[in-house]
Amino acid sequence: MLTWYDRHRRTLPWRAKPGETAIPYRVWLSEIMLQQTTVTAVKPYFEKFLTLFPDVFALAHAPAEAVMSAWAGLGYYSRARNLHACAKAVVEIHGGVFPADQDALRALPGIGDYTSAAIASIAFNRVATVVDGNVERVMSRLYAVEDPLPGSKPQIKSLTAALVPDDRPGDFAQAMMDLGATLCSPKSPSCILCPFSGSCMGQARGDAETFPRKTPKKEGQLRRGAAFVLLRDDGAILVRTRPEKGLLGAMTEVPGTDWSADFKPKDALAHAPVDVDWVKLRGQVRHVFTHFPLELTIYAARCSKRKNAPKGARFVSLDALDQEALPSVMKKAIAFALENFPQ
Ligand code: ADE
Repeated sequence: MLTWYDRHRRTLPWRAKPGETAIPYRVWLSEIMLQQTTVTAVKPYFEKFLTLFPDVFALAHAPAEAVMSAWAGLGYYSRARNLHACAKAVVEIHGGVFPADQDALRALPGIGDYTSAAIASIAFNRVATVVDGNVERVMSRLYAVEDPLPGSKPQIKSLTAALVPDDRPGDFAQAMMDLGATLCSPKSPSCILCPFSGSCMGQARGDAETFPRKTPKKEGQLRRGAAFVLLRDDGAILVRTRPEKGLLGAMTEVPGTDWSADFKPKDALAHAPVDVDWVKLRGQVRHVFTHFPLELTIYAARCSKRKNAPKGARFVSLDALDQEALPSVMKKAIAFALENFPQ
């Protein structure tokens, strides 16, 4: 199957040879995807992105919808919007070549302290201090840091900076992250096998697993809402696009109410997108976002294939839903309706 890139590559305004930026491009793409996401979850997306958008030019020139829908399911969607904006900036400002300097990298969309340090050291072998959650755990144990996170971040960063070698700083950074992801695990670290065994203060004290200290955080308050799943006779479903800005920005959703802590179930039907016989399904769809848990009540209905979509919404064939930028919470809501709505 021809991808968007195959169809358009000849018309793209090349300014650097294809392939020239391959390593920084791959390092950057993987680092953005790996933020708050496991390697197992990222792997198929990483491969898909390299097929659809083999280099920074292809990504920069791809339509926003193609990028968002390729990202659908990976979560934290502002990353996808920033990824696209960053590809455009690298092409427009740097001629398609990622800068090696950490400050220049940090000036690009979606690239902060961690990612700029990771790209500078892993892709360009520059001395930089790479600290992610795994490295924080390793360092807080190595030096038995008593101050709790997040307040101890600057201390942990300067302790890490003092260890970064001039030789192969990128390998050091990845080794520290891998150590935290494997041996130096949160609950039962394998101290005997650890390369820092004998020089780790946490191990010497015998309570390495109690680090890092953490300031207790408040749970996000539960929000509730309703979602409306309208199924048309010809196998289409009513969807709309969320506003550009904010949570799940520009992603596809089934119509619904706002999500709030004081959601009133009896007002839900006032937000139905069309006037049909809605059936309230038993049970709820639950989803946990970073800042709050959500409980959705699902209403379902069928309509004839002659029904037109109301303003701001559109019918999409259920078979074509995988080409939409559909977030996990909406996949759950639609699956729940399909399973629980009587035929
Ligand atoms: N997590 C995110 N980026 C990583 C990397 N380059 N190596 C190991 N773990 C990581």
